[in-house]
Amino acid sequence: MTKNEARQKIIALRDELEEHNYKYYVLSRPEISDFDFDMKMKELEKLEKEFPEFYDPNSPSQRVGSDLTKEFVQVKHERPMLSLSNVYSEQELIDFDQRVRKLLETGFKYVCELKFDGVSISMIYEGGKLERAVTRGDGEKGDNVTTNVRTIRAVPLKLRGSGFPARFEVRGEIMLPFNVFNKINEERVKAGEMPFANPRNAASGTLKMQDPSIVASRKLDAYLYYLLGENLPSDSHYENMQKAKEWGFKVSEHTKLCNGLGEVLSFIKTWDTKRYGLPVAIDGIVIKVDSLKMQEILGYTAKSPRWAIAYKFKAEQAATILHSVSFQVGRTGAVTPVANLEPVLLAGTTVKRASLHNADIIRNLGLHLNDTVFVEKGGEIIPKITGVDLSKRHPMAAPVVFITKCPECGTPLERKESEAAYYCPNSQGCPPQIKGKIEHFISRKAMDIDGLGQETVDLLFKEGLIKDISGLYTLRKEQIARLERLGEKSANRILKSLEESKNVPFERVLFGLGIRFVGETVAKVLANKLMSIDRIKNATYEELLEINEIGEKIAESVVEYFSDEENIKLIEFLKSIGLQMEISKEEQDNRTEKLKGLNIIISGTFKKFSREEIKNLIDLHGGRNVSSISKKTSYLVAGENIGPSKLEKARQLNIPIISEEEFEELISE
Ligand code: IVH
Repeated sequence: MTKNEARQKIIALRDELEEHNYKYYVLSRPEISDFDFDMKMKELEKLEKEFPEFYDPNSPSQRVGSDLTKEFVQVKHERPMLSLSNVYSEQELIDFDQRVRKLLETGFKYVCELKFDGVSISMIYEGGKLERAVTRGDGEKGDNVTTNVRTIRAVPLKLRGSGFPARFEVRGEIMLPFNVFNKINEERVKAGEMPFANPRNAASGTLKMQDPSIVASRKLDAYLYYLLGENLPSDSHYENMQKAKEWGFKVSEHTKLCNGLGEVLSFIKTWDTKRYGLPVAIDGIVIKVDSLKMQEILGYTAKSPRWAIAYKFKAEQAATILHSVSFQVGRTGAVTPVANLEPVLLAGTTVKRASLHNADIIRNLGLHLNDTVFVEKGGEIIPKITGVDLSKRHPMAAPVVFITKCPECGTPLERKESEAAYYCPNSQGCPPQIKGKIEHFISRKAMDIDGLGQETVDLLFKEGLIKDISGLYTLRKEQIARLERLGEKSANRILKSLEESKNVPFERVLFGLGIRFVGETVAKVLANKLMSIDRIKNATYEELLEINEIGEKIAESVVEYFSDEENIKLIEFLKSIGLQMEISKEEQDNRTEKLKGLNIIISGTFKKFSREEIKNLIDLHGGRNVSSISKKTSYLVAGENIGPSKLEKARQLNIPIISEEEFEELISE
């Protein structure tokens, strides 16, 4: 075969396979057998191997994924990913309709769509090709998961047809169909792993996996419901989605253009029952004003569009038997009761356990063993018990009692006056607490230690090689290498990563210490304000309370943490081996007092900075970021898409409104 012939054959096969992919995964109307498809794929792979000069990342053969992505890079969304406000009743829909009517002339239409309960994704297409795919993240920036999304057969790598804008964004939901979900869970249980709680978690976990070839094997699906960009084909959202379908996107066929609220309500009613027949999970109906011009008139609040709303279905209930209650001890020592139930089908998944949260809930429910209980699944990962069917209680049934001693180490449990949870106070000697603290310390958002996971920590602990966080830094290569399933290569990787963790910025070290109530954001705030571990250690309860965003619970917990000798010893050790215990010199030098005494509010989206970055800048220069406008506000920094009500209020109160650029000048003067 000549080079030219090969090229032609490769292109023909790619087109043909992509066509079959589309028919199979998007239209669900396969035209050839799986076997024939595989044969054609093999032929293509063979040719591509023989003629590597024709490599194309968009070839259907690349959907299986091969290279290992190390970790995901965070990228800023071109347009922030807002959420929808939720309503639960017909009355709230009537209110929504009235708000819309007030602002629009008559003659508008609504589009009703299924509200897919998966992982939202934003994809950019340029020149008809998938450029990048990013998770929602915090709405402003998300993880770049393009490599993984490329493996999803329902996502077109190259668009079909014509008329699509040169560059545009499309948003939708990545879903794991129920049948795949159930199969994965069966396999996980067989392998001794924890099953996923629901398809959304499974989809999210899958999307974040480092190995795209495993992602490919998981058979994710994707439904698209939102086009953004200039030069969209039509002013009608509905029409645009029909076009998107022609370009090769999977758009739900259960979307309906409605004239007025009456039709909307009957659509909702239909789907409240019909939803159980779908292959994927939905948790409501999204109602959108169809015309893009009218959407623009309606605009946005800080969090969500005024032109759309989500009607959420009521959580489904099921009755089942309570067999027993087990008690789990977490990293902070908090003891969580978990109900073990007779398995029951609830909203498409089998439920065997339910969270009972704390002792008060058990008492309020008046739970007895073998009670018939009602379980409900809201948005939570694990369902909850909402009531007891007293008519079915056995007269001799024993009440469920909360344990008084730690199930792991036997220490008597304690409870703080202001808190609902019981704690095991043996934080330095209770195995799940120690292991939990170590796991938290090495986790991605903290020290991000490569090669160490829950299982390895378990093993190192069991072998007596680590007794607390500091033990990680005295591990020797031989000790790790001789462990089961590890070896020299893993040992090297772990040690290298531990060495590198000495460069991890202070705020993440602080987060990694696992102080109760000091999450990522609070750690950042403390690090920014107080700048070093010593100043945090020496801060009094009152001084901590002075800080914006630090409340009583956090302040109390921080003071308590630093009053424990063992914690001080740990910190001194970590300091002595070179972990970052203060913010970097560079950041210290950048600090000024240019915004001292100023209360600054930010609103909208910005071009140069993310909102988080602007907040950090305000902090860095001694200002205070506030969240609501009042007479005391010094400036409103206004970005794009700023809500009209905020602007109006600022004008009324005569508060200076400045742009992103003017803000920059303010701090660089
Ligand atoms: S439109 C500006 N349509 O629900 C908001 N969202 O709570 C644009 N979702 O983050 C979203 N199905 O992940 C839209 N048909 C649908 C949807 C949908 C599910 C998700 C989406 C969004 C969340 C909003």
